[in-house]
Amino acid sequence: MTAKIISIAQAKGGVGKSTICANLAVTFSQSSKVLMIDCDPPQNSLSAWFAIRVNLYEDTGLHIEQAATSAQLVGLIEKNKEKYDYILIDGAPHVNAVVRTMLLLSNLIIIPLAPSSVEIWSFATFETLIEKAESLNKSLKTKICWNRVRRRVKSSEEVIDSVAKESKLTALKNQLTFRVAYMDSFAEGCSVYEWTDPVASAEIWSLSSAIKRVINKVEPVKLSKSAAVQEFIKKG
Ligand SMILES: Nc1ncnc2c1ncn2[C@@H]1O[C@H](COP(=O)(O)OP(=O)(O)O)[C@@H](O)[C@H]1O
Ligand SMILES: [Mg+2]
Repeated sequence: MTAKIISIAQAKGGVGKSTICANLAVTFSQSSKVLMIDCDPPQNSLSAWFAIRVNLYEDTGLHIEQAATSAQLVGLIEKNKEKYDYILIDGAPHVNAVVRTMLLLSNLIIIPLAPSSVEIWSFATFETLIEKAESLNKSLKTKICWNRVRRRVKSSEEVIDSVAKESKLTALKNQLTFRVAYMDSFAEGCSVYEWTDPVASAEIWSLSSAIKRVINKVEPVKLSKSAAVQEFIKKG
């Protein structure tokens, strides 16, 4: 068994990276061994969520580590990739060497995006970075995950349509809508399954199933020590 490595990455904060990471981790842990790696110091909100969760459950069924540097992340993956089925990595809200390392080490990058024009202004730069990472990591798949979607809002639909037309990246069909349950459950160390919103639970369940299908057949990633890889990690 070699762990499937999934990173939740975006150059912006507040897009839902930690929320999605936590909810996917809980879903996958129902049938698989899951390690989360929190790469967002000093906030470490995933670790804060987990600390609350530890007080709720005798056995959370999850494990968490933190990585503040590229070398720490590489070391954690090396140490744990044969021990887990899934490694879920939560990224920082900007691009740094750790985020670039995540792109090179992952089978799948989930990019949460909120469908508003302001949210996607900075997206083009991140897309260029992803393209470069894809040329260095042949096992990498990338999927946009629309989050905080408001149904029947014309401007949201227009943003989603324009990204579908203009971006080379494809989006998962499963979208997460704007629901208070995502906020409230995370603040209490829970997933949406342990909350009172069946719609949010169904959204996360469908998203997890779709992600499993995307990474079903991916090959394990080997981080090359080539000069191009080292250069990418250092400078992008
Ligand atoms: N689908 C959603 N509906 C409502 N609130 C959401 C949703 N996804 C995330 N949030 C909220 O948005 C805020 C930012 O989410 P977070 O996961 O911390 O983002 P990031 O890790 O990208 O900075 C949090 O308050 C979170 O509860
Ligand atoms: Mg976060």
